[in-house]
Amino acid sequence: MRKNGLAIHPLNDSVGAEIDLDLSTPHEDWVYREIRQAIDAHGVVFFRDQNLDSEQYATFARHFGKTIVPTSDIIPAFNGSSEIAEVRKEPEQTRNIGGSWHTDQAFRPAPYWGTMLLAREVPDYGGDTLFIGMAAVYEALSDGLKQTLDGLRAVHSNARVQAKMTDGKPAQPDVTHPVVARHPGDGHRFLYVNPAYTVRFDGWSEQESQGLLDYLFRFAQRPEFACRFRWREGSLAFWDNYQTWHYATNDYQGERRVMHRIVVESDPFF
Ligand code: SIN
Repeated sequence: MRKNGLAIHPLNDSVGAEIDLDLSTPHEDWVYREIRQAIDAHGVVFFRDQNLDSEQYATFARHFGKTIVPTSDIIPAFNGSSEIAEVRKEPEQTRNIGGSWHTDQAFRPAPYWGTMLLAREVPDYGGDTLFIGMAAVYEALSDGLKQTLDGLRAVHSNARVQAKMTDGKPAQPDVTHPVVARHPGDGHRFLYVNPAYTVRFDGWSEQESQGLLDYLFRFAQRPEFACRFRWREGSLAFWDNYQTWHYATNDYQGERRVMHRIVVESDPFF
């Protein structure tokens, strides 16, 4: 029987909340429902000091949908796992993964809903991940711009990202998604464009789209729409790929950083 709700501590009005909970033991269903509601409301939630082995981690993830390791990913499966992938940067590597503002999987016809990262090894300093809440960004736009954007679709492509890869894989076919999407839970709106994958508005040329997309990308990066998460070993972040952007900072050269990632497929938002 539920007596008290979860202890959820928002980081600001726009994005991010910390939840005090030990994820190593099973919980009643209402706990997972409240975690999902917190992600719906805050875009990303964080848990500290989780001492989870791979099975405990995957068991937690399965409460939210089907766990997958996306096949076209540059992030390899961890020890051949079909559920956990590894985001690793070695001391001699200079480039990191995710070091630009992006939304995971936006180039897919039905983007995967959730991503979680569990910190296994962290540098002494740096390596923070930043998040932006795209519902707060949409809310802060003028009514006139909201009206212009409502009903538009945008073309998303992984061609620019894929061109930097050495795996020789072709880019995925372009897809279109609504520029302003509605959350299937409470119906709140959020802006669904991002600098990594959105190339133009559907029916507009790239040149015509560039000015407005650049404006939206700059506007979204105002500090009040963002939070910055400082990792410790055992920290876990769990975010909604539809409503957030994220950015992995690359400011810890000469040190190792290892994250275990689980992607969760849930009902697509559009
Ligand atoms: C990613 O963008 O998927 C990686 C994020 C991180 O390592 O903080």
